[in-house]
Amino acid sequence: MSTTIPIATAAADTAVVVGASSGLGRALATELARRGHAVLLVASDRRDVDALAADLQLRHGVPARGLALDLARSADPGGAIGAALDGLPPLAAVLIPAGWSRHDDDGTLDTAAIGQLLAINLHAPLAIAHALLPALLEHRGTLVLFGSVAAERGRGRNIVYAAAKRGLVSFAQSLRHRHADGALRVQLYQLGFLRSNLTHGLRLPLPAAEPDGIARDVVAGLARRDGTYYRPGWWALVALIVRSLPWFVFRRMKD
Ligand SMILES: NC(=O)c1ccc[n+]([C@@H]2O[C@H](COP(=O)([O-])OP(=O)(O)OC[C@H]3O[C@@H](n4cnc5c(N)ncnc54)[C@H](OP(=O)(O)O)[C@@H]3O)[C@@H](O)[C@H]2O)c1
Repeated sequence: MSTTIPIATAAADTAVVVGASSGLGRALATELARRGHAVLLVASDRRDVDALAADLQLRHGVPARGLALDLARSADPGGAIGAALDGLPPLAAVLIPAGWSRHDDDGTLDTAAIGQLLAINLHAPLAIAHALLPALLEHRGTLVLFGSVAAERGRGRNIVYAAAKRGLVSFAQSLRHRHADGALRVQLYQLGFLRSNLTHGLRLPLPAAEPDGIARDVVAGLARRDGTYYRPGWWALVALIVRSLPWFVFRRMKD
């Protein structure tokens, strides 16, 4: 169920943004279009992605297409995205900032809720990347995944979310190993707090970054080499400290 708004100038290549309707994904989509990439924008609500696609196409003159897909319910999100790419310029980048967390993810969730968290945060990125790999490999493309510092060391909150995000770390490593010949670039951004829907109304122990700044850095870095990058960069130090804390201190950390 994708829609393209006609009239656009040619773009050299296409970038897919999964989770493009808000926060970092919206900022990434905007920055990609501003730099002249055609974009395929994916999120669950068709009105959100269609409105953003129309706006980007108008402002930046690039082909922009919206695709409505509920990642918690779709058995084959990669297949749907692959079909929606038909007719767009060659695929150069797949960015998957889609993510979802919930406040009661503290070991009390039922099976359905666990499945939903895993579907959005782990199954969807893996399934989409697998499905789009052949197209990415054809043009030495870039896959960009987004983890969280919440997964740096398992705690009594965000239990399933963190497990899923930790899964992405392993997935990125595996793909890098599999494609160590350089045919695919795999970047994983480990993010600290962002000012977005996910953190709206939360009391945060450290400052939240603006998605626009992170998006500019990620898009400028698409040709950057494979690797894991902390953003903002100072979170690398926080992560190191959290990993190194002795258990008797760590067990008391509640935020
Ligand atoms: N915000 C933070 O402090 C923070 C910290 C560390 C890591 N991260 C990670 O950074 C990434 C971006 O986060 P953000 O703060 O920009 O989040 P956000 O503003 O809540 O945006 C999340 C995006 O994911 C999409 N999404 C969620 N559930 C979906 C579903 N079932 N089907 C399709 N799309 C779905 C949302 O689209 P819909 O309109 O369909 O809901 C939205 O476009 C996420 O991977 C997040 O885990 C965020």
